[in-house]
Amino acid sequence: MATTLAAPTLHRNVAEFLSKPRKMLVNGKWVDSVSGKTFETYNPATGEVLATVAEGDRADIEQAVKAARRAFESGKWPEMSPSKRGRLLWKLADLLEANLEEFAQLETLDNGKPLTIARVADVPLAIDMFRYMAGWATKVEGNTIPISSGGAKYFAYTLREPVGVVGQIIPWNFPLLMAAWKLAPALAVGCTVILKPAEQTPLTALRLGELAMEAGFPDGVFNVVPGFGETAGAALAAHPDVDKIAFTGSTEVGRLILQAAAGNLKKVSLELGGKSPNIIFPDADLSVAIPGSASGIFFNQGQCCCAGSRLFVHKSIFDEVVDGVAKVAKDFHVGPGFDAATNMGPLVSQEQLDRVCGYLDSGISEGAKAVVGGKKKSGAGYFVEPTVLVDTKPDMKVIKEEIFGPVVAAIPFSDPEEVLPTANNSIYGLAAAVWTRDIGKAHRTAAKLRAGTVWINCYNVFDAALPFGGYKQSGWGREMGHDALELYTETKAVCAQL
Ligand code: NAI
Ligand code: MG
Repeated sequence: MATTLAAPTLHRNVAEFLSKPRKMLVNGKWVDSVSGKTFETYNPATGEVLATVAEGDRADIEQAVKAARRAFESGKWPEMSPSKRGRLLWKLADLLEANLEEFAQLETLDNGKPLTIARVADVPLAIDMFRYMAGWATKVEGNTIPISSGGAKYFAYTLREPVGVVGQIIPWNFPLLMAAWKLAPALAVGCTVILKPAEQTPLTALRLGELAMEAGFPDGVFNVVPGFGETAGAALAAHPDVDKIAFTGSTEVGRLILQAAAGNLKKVSLELGGKSPNIIFPDADLSVAIPGSASGIFFNQGQCCCAGSRLFVHKSIFDEVVDGVAKVAKDFHVGPGFDAATNMGPLVSQEQLDRVCGYLDSGISEGAKAVVGGKKKSGAGYFVEPTVLVDTKPDMKVIKEEIFGPVVAAIPFSDPEEVLPTANNSIYGLAAAVWTRDIGKAHRTAAKLRAGTVWINCYNVFDAALPFGGYKQSGWGREMGHDALELYTETKAVCAQL
């Protein structure tokens, strides 16, 4: 174990954290799994074991749900004053900030992403999310409702109440940030939570659990059960005493979550895949559109649900844009996230590397051409070359399916009217972008794109205040912003005859 700790700058808390098997957080205590089983998490830059983690399964989920139910029913969390709940969330954000470097390093080791990115994106955005939702804790309000029917006089109002015990299943692409997106709104409104991090990247969620205990969250409010999807995840999704399940991950597993939730008809929110169109009109400022589009696909090694993987470029500027994006790809320093020069790390796992390489092989064998990249990087670790494909056809798998890697298909268009139906021709509808200097065209295009987010002359701009989620098969519900409060509250109508 811990064979990958050679990096000279390794934070001493990280070395300490990785040196011991990590337990799970149930009812405020750090415990082994009921079965005693553990699993290993790997450093994607080397393929070596990084840490050993308690492997949760049905029995552990059972205990965590019981604890969360007790914490909810006892009222110690939902009935705590909103101000106090908000201050606890704010304190958690402060602790996260005080430990920023440690969290960034853990994230890089577990996920592979460049440390420079984890420091400026993943951890600060997670901190912001807790602070933003801390503010909402005191602002979840109902309405007073004028009543016309019944003849008598009535006083009626609505209450927004926490939905109850919430199961949250998150992926590995932004492990800490996805935990923050899920936990912060649920906790702010008074829900109690069981978080199941992805088996590839459980470490920052577990460390966050330690900070939550340090901040003073009551026992049972914040539980973290690491484990595999088919076991721990499935048990959580199916549990009859869980009131709501929130999931981010593949569309395929999203469907399984929905089926599992049918037993007790628990509330469901889903943030799933994407195949986002990124449209560059001929009047765009290419000095921003080219680097912006490159970052729109290559950020996080392309492992973003909103990655701009279908790049539609007007034919008059097609060669210039393709050359520009290809140059960005060529100039990437692909290497271990801990190297200072690295701006693209490895993919998260061998499985993900095989998936992405499978798509590259399929596209190229069907006649697509890789202008740059197109294969795995030789040597250890799960590295793939950033790739720009041209000469694709609409029915190719690389055009229809989510690749979730640094692979973009550049597609020329001639008629601005025709690009929109083509852009919308996807089972997904998570995000889209448009680049143009014409402000009217920008907003008209934004209105016509069937996507939960449209970026104009930018890409991958995220903010705790900006709702995020999908149309079509990209999901149900919106995370972040005040929309996220909807996911975790029920509306109660109270009507009194006066
Ligand atoms: P996945 O959907 O299998 O995993 C995401 C989470 O769901 C993990 O915590 C996993 O343990 C859990 N899970 C898996 N099976 C489950 C089940 N039957 N019941 C309950 N929970 C379950 O995603 P995976 O296999 O890691 O990646 C496959 C593809 O999914 C990627 O190539 C990508 O296309 C897509 N994906 C999309 C993400 C997004 O942000 N929308 C994030 C991760 C993956
Ligand atoms: Mg899976």
